[in-house]
Amino acid sequence: MKTTAVLLAAGKGTRMRSELPKVLHPLGGRPLVRHALDALADLTGQTPVVVVGHGAEAVQAAVGAAARFVVQAEQLGTGHAVMQAASALEGQTDLVLVAQADMPLITAETYQKLIVAQQTNPGPFSMLTVLADDPRGFGRIVRNPDGSVQAIVEDHEATEEQRAIRELNVGGYCFQAEWLWAALKQIPLSAKGEYYLTDLVKIANAEGQPVQALMMEDAEETIGINSRVHLAEAESILRRRINRAWMEAGVTLIDPATTYIEPGVQIGPDTVLHPNTMLRGSTVLGARCEVGPNTLVQDSTVGDDCKLFMSVVEYARLENHVDVGPYAHLRKGAHLGDGVHMGNFGEVKNSYLAPGAKMGHFSYIGDATIGKDVNIGAGTITCNYDGVNKNHTEIGDGAFIGSDTMLVAPLKIGAGARTGAGSVVTKDVPEDALVVGIPARPVRKAK
Ligand code: UD1
Ligand code: CA
Repeated sequence: MKTTAVLLAAGKGTRMRSELPKVLHPLGGRPLVRHALDALADLTGQTPVVVVGHGAEAVQAAVGAAARFVVQAEQLGTGHAVMQAASALEGQTDLVLVAQADMPLITAETYQKLIVAQQTNPGPFSMLTVLADDPRGFGRIVRNPDGSVQAIVEDHEATEEQRAIRELNVGGYCFQAEWLWAALKQIPLSAKGEYYLTDLVKIANAEGQPVQALMMEDAEETIGINSRVHLAEAESILRRRINRAWMEAGVTLIDPATTYIEPGVQIGPDTVLHPNTMLRGSTVLGARCEVGPNTLVQDSTVGDDCKLFMSVVEYARLENHVDVGPYAHLRKGAHLGDGVHMGNFGEVKNSYLAPGAKMGHFSYIGDATIGKDVNIGAGTITCNYDGVNKNHTEIGDGAFIGSDTMLVAPLKIGAGARTGAGSVVTKDVPEDALVVGIPARPVRKAK
């Protein structure tokens, strides 16, 4: 049976008290809407339809090509939101899976079970429910004597007795498409001026058609985001899920509670993550690395056997056996070759350091190409910016840059050359030459 997913993402999210649309608040480093969409992505073979409204353009930009969009210009409730997808889907699909963008932890497996349940259900729809002690403002499930669902009562409309019901509406439904399109038109306007999708239960019951509930086992999946408190709860659940999966895959986490790994990260086996490590974006770490404590790696690629100690690595690439830190900062375009050593208080930006290069202490290397086995003395600085342009520095293989050298770019230091401590180098230095002083001048051959 052809199934198409419709994801509701048009609401403002008033309870977030935010300028930002709720579904764009980040969870695990990516917008909320992306989590539900990822779960739905490969489920049906059909491109999901996302209903956007509040902040429509920004939400569409965050989702990109992963979905089709329909606009709900006025947010008149969840029933009204689904109605907006009718023109795009009528006659195009057998089943419609409806999901909510503020339910980011429901897994693809759970949605899959819901679809399978409806495939064999003679009634018009199946829905996800959960038993929980904290109702979290969810709709309560009232059952018929035969076990089918009689009604979903919204929290603010529930009687005292109904409020005590522990079975809750999770907000995931799978409908017979043709029944859905017709039934949506019968939803009455609520006291709040909205069309509730949940009223479809009453409509089905009035027709004598049973609604089937599929009770979920893992209540953690049903954390919905209505407030920033919920967002923090979801963040910690997501983190626990991700951390557990990496430990099972062979990564040591010294303290999972303070280890933050975003969903798009990859890590090789026998890598050890120390407390307060954050791995973000599309970071890839190799095998047998040691990272942290207190280390941030953002959108970077790190090879095998690397050591990153108390450092910040952003948009950088490290080959194998590289060691960095403490207090090192690798910025965009930093590329450290095999075995490079970058010690404390160093900064590298938009530069390549060839294998074996060493910069142990207090250096800034920007817009530079550093040859093999170059030694960069303490306090060396590439003066790459003249106030207008960023200029390039090139240092040949085996050169030895004395402590506190200022390399005024554009500049070329030949292979095997040396600079004296404290020199200010303003002119290119030939191979194997030794230059000293301010401005630096040749003294003799280095070798
Ligand atoms: C809804 C359900 C409630 C259920 C809960 C579970 C209704 C009436 N109530 O309540 O029974 O327990 O979800 O999470 O459905 N949206 C739109 N357009 C709108 C209104 C909402 O696209 O006009 C979207 C929102 O962006 C959100 C989702 O629908 O992703 C749910 O809306 P929300 O207002 O959060 O509903 P709840 O009060 O949580
Ligand atoms: Ca909600």
